[in-house]
Amino acid sequence: MDKLAIQGGRRLEGEISISGAKNAALPILCAALLTEETLHLDNLPKLKDISTTLTLLGHIGTQICLDEQGSIDLLADRLSTLQAPYELVKTMRASILVLGPLLTRYGEAMVSLPGGCAIGSRPVDLHIKGLKAMGADITIERGYIHAKAGRLKGARIFMDSVTVTGTENLMMAATLAEGITVLENAAREPEVEDLANCLIAMGADIRGAGTDTVTIHGVSRLHGAAYSIMADRIETGTYLVAAAMTQGKITLHRTRPDTLDAVIEKLREAGAKISCSNNSITLSMDRRPLAVTIKTAPYPAFPTDMQAQFMAMNCIATGVGSVTETIFENRFMHVQEMQRLGANIEIEGNTALVRGVDKLDGATVMATDLRASASLVLAALVAQGETVIERIYHIDRGYECIEEKFNQLGAHVKRIQRTGSGS
Ligand code: EPZ
Repeated sequence: MDKLAIQGGRRLEGEISISGAKNAALPILCAALLTEETLHLDNLPKLKDISTTLTLLGHIGTQICLDEQGSIDLLADRLSTLQAPYELVKTMRASILVLGPLLTRYGEAMVSLPGGCAIGSRPVDLHIKGLKAMGADITIERGYIHAKAGRLKGARIFMDSVTVTGTENLMMAATLAEGITVLENAAREPEVEDLANCLIAMGADIRGAGTDTVTIHGVSRLHGAAYSIMADRIETGTYLVAAAMTQGKITLHRTRPDTLDAVIEKLREAGAKISCSNNSITLSMDRRPLAVTIKTAPYPAFPTDMQAQFMAMNCIATGVGSVTETIFENRFMHVQEMQRLGANIEIEGNTALVRGVDKLDGATVMATDLRASASLVLAALVAQGETVIERIYHIDRGYECIEEKFNQLGAHVKRIQRTGSGS
């Protein structure tokens, strides 16, 4: 397995471009299953999770033509199977996003239960409950979701908890259902809105995406379209925190400042100077960050996917900051690893109390999940000496060309490729 070796102590300076958003691209790729015409997408990020999704869509029978610039044509006019096998789904939970499209277009789907992951049990009961409300007959047998339906029927669905992919799955299912579907307590994440905009370009009738009530008038068919994936707000936030921690000055291009209000607010509270245009953000930091208090919650509140990164910043901040995680039950896996670098963190329930220390010392640490891994890279950028991060396949799931982008900003990040079964 590959590792990253990072020499700490260098200020980040310069400019990079942000890639397309992983969490918008994943549902939008699955939307190709809703039409027998070609869906053309631009700004697709080159990530492990994207290639996993393409493997799954190819397995189902989607024809895929991908070019080097991150553009892709998908054509799902003759599918060979309606099954998403465990071998593929277990590597990426978001594979559940083929369930709604297959069921509403073909009346049947057999999708492996995704199972949990490092950060939590990650149930999909609300996806299933919503599809049943639309008339699907769903049973769970031997680890698979077996779903059958005539034409799905529109329904009013109250989501017991805010679920991003749950909202996306039901929204896609509703596009071809008979009648009107109203999703109440829907997720408001920008990626939900991006998916809705792509579906609307394909001929869907969707109103209210990005608010907590989404109304979908079912249509008989969707047509092909061309759509460009929105910028990745979590990648953007990650580089902004890196620049704040290293007291640097960076500009991020091809991004969406309007999707980062809560993150920008917290960075300003930490002492960063931030200016935004409509598609770029400049951050400069001329002092050690001030500790901030973070509490994660659904959009537009502070995003759980930025929690680990801000914990890294609190580790070397002035003062004491607290980080409360309200979305997932086990999203503090990065804490022990940061403690190996010398961080002073105490966990009490779902809150971590972080006392800023003057310095971290490089060590060997292990990545455990996507955003935890990113937070270890940030900590390594300020740690004294070299830090080696193992199991960085977690990072490659969600950060395109991470070492190239950080090195372009003046960091010293080297990928160590491990051949054979070496750890
Ligand atoms: C999406 O996951 C994102 N993934 C996650 O990003 C993100 O952390 C999460 O939303 C929250 O913002 C993608 O979009 C591919 P949820 P998702 O359903 O949809 C509970 C990353 O790092 N829940 O919004 O799987 C669930 O247990 C990843 O890029 C149910 O109880 O998350 C959790 O407590 C990590 N039943 C809460 O809702 C359900 O049926 C939010 O989960 C579904 C969810």
